[in-house]
Amino acid sequence: MMPASPHLANKKVYMETLGCQMNVNDSELMLGLLEQQGFGVTYDPRQADLLMINTCQIRQHAEDKAFSYLGRWAALKRQRPYIKIAMAGCVAQQAKDTVFKRIPGVDMVLGTQNLHDLPDLVSKAFAGQTHLLAADKQKRYSTYDHTVDVTPRRENDISAWVTIIEGCDYFCTYCVVPYTRGRQISRRPKSIIEEVKDLAQFGFKEITLLGQTVDSYGKDFDDPTYGLANLLEALNEIDGIERIRFTTSHPLDLNTPIIQAVAALPKVMEHIHIPMQAGDDVVLERMKRGYTAQQYYHLVDEIRDTIPNVGVTGDYIVGFPGESDAQFQRTVDSVSRAQKDAANTAAYSPRKQTPAGIWEERNEGVIPDEVKRERLQILNAAITEQARKKMAPYLGQTVQVLVEGQSRRNAERLTGRTRNNKVVNFDTTVPEHELVGQLVNVAVTETLPFSMLGKHVLAAGSVPPALAGAPVALV
Ligand code: SAH
Ligand code: SF4
Ligand code: F3S
Repeated sequence: MMPASPHLANKKVYMETLGCQMNVNDSELMLGLLEQQGFGVTYDPRQADLLMINTCQIRQHAEDKAFSYLGRWAALKRQRPYIKIAMAGCVAQQAKDTVFKRIPGVDMVLGTQNLHDLPDLVSKAFAGQTHLLAADKQKRYSTYDHTVDVTPRRENDISAWVTIIEGCDYFCTYCVVPYTRGRQISRRPKSIIEEVKDLAQFGFKEITLLGQTVDSYGKDFDDPTYGLANLLEALNEIDGIERIRFTTSHPLDLNTPIIQAVAALPKVMEHIHIPMQAGDDVVLERMKRGYTAQQYYHLVDEIRDTIPNVGVTGDYIVGFPGESDAQFQRTVDSVSRAQKDAANTAAYSPRKQTPAGIWEERNEGVIPDEVKRERLQILNAAITEQARKKMAPYLGQTVQVLVEGQSRRNAERLTGRTRNNKVVNFDTTVPEHELVGQLVNVAVTETLPFSMLGKHVLAAGSVPPALAGAPVALV
């Protein structure tokens, strides 16, 4: 462990995190590294000595947001020249050669596989150096294998993100992730198991294993027979952890052993987030997803046949170059065919470095923004309708909920999720601090499309396997 540096003690960092849960986990790790160096954390950028942003490039909007923060911070730095500015994450990885010119004021740029280099960069920056860059992708080990002695700084003390595989080898034609995160690298099982044991000791009850293609876990190991199913089995043995989740699954990797592990292992929750992206075979092929709609439906049927009460969620993109009305309609139809519990949707956003981005630049099959907006509305309405149907049978049921804290909408209520990831807001007479982190029974009194309301059932009784889910996606 690196000793705290005296010249960094009493300094404060403000961290802004954009993007997916993996970025959230990366920010937690970076804050853990900075705390080891002596930094404190502030939630007020005006109090910070170090302003740090962890960026996302998945869509143009996310990228613009990152540069807008940096622009504002650069202006702040002109008034307070002692402030240091650091940029990390997916935009940093891609823009590493231009950022110092584009935003004068940025002192440090940290690539997605260089988190462990942060302390060195920060020490140098506060010693007066600037234009510090560490963004050499394609390391042999996962970032998290480089930082096994660091305790990430987690905001939530019940439920923890645990990254198990970084990068992606699929190269879907619309997606930046393989470029920003690099090739797939699985973290060693030993370091994952040790981290989860530590989390259990600290009182965490739930872990969510993260990866862009979490079910590819282990494919890059010398022994390719070790996969996600084996890891789930090992983690299921850890005392204190009550619930294990994983996201995001790729349809080509979600195999029978993983599905059977979810069904058989009591701590592994009945929820699969498995994006379909589009319901039409020609669009799927142009996206280079590697499966047909029928293959996707067969997989979902296997999931539902093997795992009782499973929640199935996913992602869709509308307005992919060349998508006709009829092709879009197949996406809409897939929502009910796959009986989706919920799904994230996005209008296609062209990304320069990808093949589909290049078609867009050549004006091949570009779908106008107003058509994308209209299709999004139609698809969201279909998802809401399907979600409503999936939620309705919970009325009058008793579900098991892991209590997370106060409901966001109503401070009088507590909130948590069922085994299959449906959000439950409920009334109780028990004080919040006594229930947070506990598994409780809730009698459902009202269902909405994406959540349910209920009353805490105090008497110990038998609980039917929890039905219930809100989308847990990477974005
Ligand atoms: N690895 C996951 C998805 C990761 S990216 C998978 O293969 O499904 C998260 C989501 O962002 C994707 O599921 C996709 O729906 C969306 N997305 C990715 N690139 C996009 C783009 N260029 N425009 C719009 N949405 C995009
Ligand atoms: Fe990889 Fe998913 Fe992006 Fe496809 S959409 S390239 S599988 S991260
Ligand atoms: Fe965004 Fe990078 Fe995650 S592009 S979605 S932060 S992997």
